[in-house]
Amino acid sequence: MQSRRTALKAILFAGVTGPVLVVNFPAAAQAATSLKEAYKGDFLIGAAINEAQITGKDARGDAIVEAQFNSISPENALKWEHVHPLPGKYDFVIPDQYVAFGEKNGMFIVGHTLVWHNQVPDWVFHDDKGDLLARDALLARMRDHIHTVVGRYKGRIQSWDVVNEALNEDGSLRQSLWYKIIGEDYIAKAFEYAHEADPQVQLTYNDYSLENAAKRNGAIALVTKLQAEGVPIMSVGLQGHDGLDWPTVEQQDATIAAFAKLGVKVVISELDIDVLPKATKEQTADVTLNIAQNPALNPYPNGLPDSVQQQLAKRYADLFGVFLKHRDAVTRVTFWGVTDADSWRNDWPVKGRTAYPLLFDRAGQPKPAYEAVIKVASR
Ligand code: XIL
Repeated sequence: MQSRRTALKAILFAGVTGPVLVVNFPAAAQAATSLKEAYKGDFLIGAAINEAQITGKDARGDAIVEAQFNSISPENALKWEHVHPLPGKYDFVIPDQYVAFGEKNGMFIVGHTLVWHNQVPDWVFHDDKGDLLARDALLARMRDHIHTVVGRYKGRIQSWDVVNEALNEDGSLRQSLWYKIIGEDYIAKAFEYAHEADPQVQLTYNDYSLENAAKRNGAIALVTKLQAEGVPIMSVGLQGHDGLDWPTVEQQDATIAAFAKLGVKVVISELDIDVLPKATKEQTADVTLNIAQNPALNPYPNGLPDSVQQQLAKRYADLFGVFLKHRDAVTRVTFWGVTDADSWRNDWPVKGRTAYPLLFDRAGQPKPAYEAVIKVASR
C-alpha cells in the first residue's frame, strides 16, 4: 500500500513539474533527474555539440543534450576556418542551425571562438602576394570578421569566447601571428570590436592550464591590464581539459578564487577528464599535437575497468565540489562533448584511442561519474 501511494505521488508530481525526488523512491529512480535541474540556481550546465548534433543527424545525442543541458557551445562550427573559409566568403549554414537549435530549446548559446592561432586559415595573415599583412590591414580584417559573425547573431548568442589561448605556459603572451603583426593590443581590439558588434553580449577570455601558477599569473596580469584600459572583458574561461590528477583540487580552488577576486565571472568552458596514460610531459591542450600511436597509450580499447570508472566518478565529484563552492563566481560548466564516442580525446593528442572523459558512455548511457556529479548537487 505504502509503495503504491508513493508511486502514485511520483506520477502526479512528474505530471506537473517533471521528474521529482520522492522519499522512499528506489535509488535508480532518484537518479532520474538531469544535470541542468540538479545545478539549477548554481550555474548553467553546457555541452559542446558537433555537426551531427547541430544538423539533427545524431538524434540520440540531441535527446541527451535536450534532456540534460541548458547551454550549448559549438565544438567547431564557429571557428574561423569553418565560418569564414575564404576572403569575403562566409558560410553560415551550420552556424545558423546551431543557433536555431539553442533557441528552440531555450538554451544559453555560446560563440566559440573569434581570435585564435589555430583553425584559422593562412590567408587571414597574408596579402595577395603572400606577404604578411601590415598591422592596420590585419586589424581591418579582424574587425570585419568580428562584426560580421557577432553582428549576425546579435542578441541570439549570449556569450563569445573573444580571444582563445593567447598565453604561453610561463604566462607571457604567445608569439602568434596576431601578436607579431598587430602587437599586444590585438587582444583589447578584439574585445572592443566584439562589444561594438553586440554591446549586450558577454565577452570571455578563454585558455587552458590557467590552473598552473605561472600561466594563471599571466592571465591575471592580462585581465587586470584590460580592465584598467576599460576593455569590456566580463569572464574568464578555464577550458578544463583535465586528468585524474591535474589540476589538484587546491589548484582549481585557487584559480577560480583568483579570477573571482578580479571581479570577472568564471566559466568552466571545455570540461573533460582523461583517464588514459599521459602522452606528453607537459600539461597542455595544444590542438596541433599528434603523438605516435602505441598500444601502451591505449589500455582500455574494449571498456573501462570498474576501478577506473570509480576513480573518474570521484574525480568529477571532487571538481564539482570546487565549482559549487564558487557558485557565486562560476556561471557555467560546459562539457566538451556529449558522449565518450564524440570526444576529441579519442584522437588527441594520439589518434585512434578509446577515451572515456565524459559523463555519458558510447551507448549514450549515464556513467557512474554522472551519478556522482548529480549527487554533489544534492548536498
Ligand atoms: C577541438 C575540437 O574538439 C576538435 O574537434 C578539433 O579538431 C580541434 O579543436 N581548445 C579549444 C577547442 O579551445 O576549440 C578545441 O576543440 C580543444 C582545445
